[in-house]
Amino acid sequence: MSQSVLFVCLGNICRSPLAEAALRQECAEVGLNVVIDSAGTGDWHVQQPPDERALAVAARNGVDIAHLRARQVTASDFHDFDHIIALDNQNLRDLLALRPTRPRSKLSLLFDHVEGRAGEDVADPYYGGEEGFDQTWAEVTEAARTIRKWLEAG
Ligand code: 4NP
Repeated sequence: MSQSVLFVCLGNICRSPLAEAALRQECAEVGLNVVIDSAGTGDWHVQQPPDERALAVAARNGVDIAHLRARQVTASDFHDFDHIIALDNQNLRDLLALRPTRPRSKLSLLFDHVEGRAGEDVADPYYGGEEGFDQTWAEVTEAARTIRKWLEAG
């Protein structure tokens, strides 16, 4: 059975859709079948497509994410996914507060999967400029490569 991964940020319109896209691209390149989704801890953007700057950076890197729609993470996600990966430490704390007593999901921080960057946040690009989204893409792509390798191994 294929493994499943859920990425979680605050709004589910910038960082986690890009992490979802990066891992999907990474897994497709090696023919690895993984269920990949993303969600936000907040509900402000539920049902909305990704931020235009996220759409643009994904398109520049060969991925179309226009079909994605934001949703809020729920306690049942902890039963549905093998891995839940938080984009920053606040997301991780919010997920810990939501986590049911017997979760199936292993919870981790995205940068804990990148050598030398454990414990770091993927900075929120929402209030910055276009270049912040290029940095986000670079960061989630680097993490996605490592995550794909451990998914392949396990
Ligand atoms: P994300 O970015 O968590 O990477 O999707 C944000 C999107 C929206 C807001 C904050 C961060 N907001 O405050 O509406």
